[in-house]
Amino acid sequence: MHKLALATIALSLIAAPALAGPKEDAVSERQAYFKKLGGNMKPLSDLLKGDYDAATAQKHADALADLTSTDISGLFMAGTSNADMPGATKALPAIWEDMDGFAAKYKALSSAAANLKVEAGKGKTELAAAFGAVGASCKSCHDAFRD
Ligand code: HEC
Repeated sequence: MHKLALATIALSLIAAPALAGPKEDAVSERQAYFKKLGGNMKPLSDLLKGDYDAATAQKHADALADLTSTDISGLFMAGTSNADMPGATKALPAIWEDMDGFAAKYKALSSAAANLKVEAGKGKTELAAAFGAVGASCKSCHDAFRD
């Protein structure tokens, strides 16, 4: 009996990933996308705190401009808010209630990142200003649409 219960648990653990559906995939993809944004912001903030290096600044600014020029609407599939999937995501239902507002925040990020791409390689002062604007656009969306 006990052995059977353990075997059942083991089996369900193996089967779990296979049962993950398109919604779970969309959430993982979306979180991976935002992690990439964070992964390119961090080295830029390090450059601002420490020694400026134009090539490194440009590399991460280019990556951010590329990432934010893609259409991310597919990552926000209906039924994937934190009300639909508690514990799995921080995406607020407000996103789906106000898609236009959400898209506007993303557009603001895209413009700020495009500007960062132009400014990042020029020097620490230019990087600081453009980086600040990108950071503000991240925060503005998080305040409105992320739990
Ligand atoms: C248009 C809105 C929007 C913008 C702009 C935005 N984010 Fe987010 N971000 C979100 C939402 C919504 C989530 C929650 C995703 C989830 O949990 O499914 C999130 C989650 C994250 C996460 C956590 C990912 C994880 O591991 O679960 C990080 C890190 C992050 N964002 C970084 C950034 C950075 C850095 C920027 C700016 C360069 C940014 N975001 C801009 C909406 C936005």
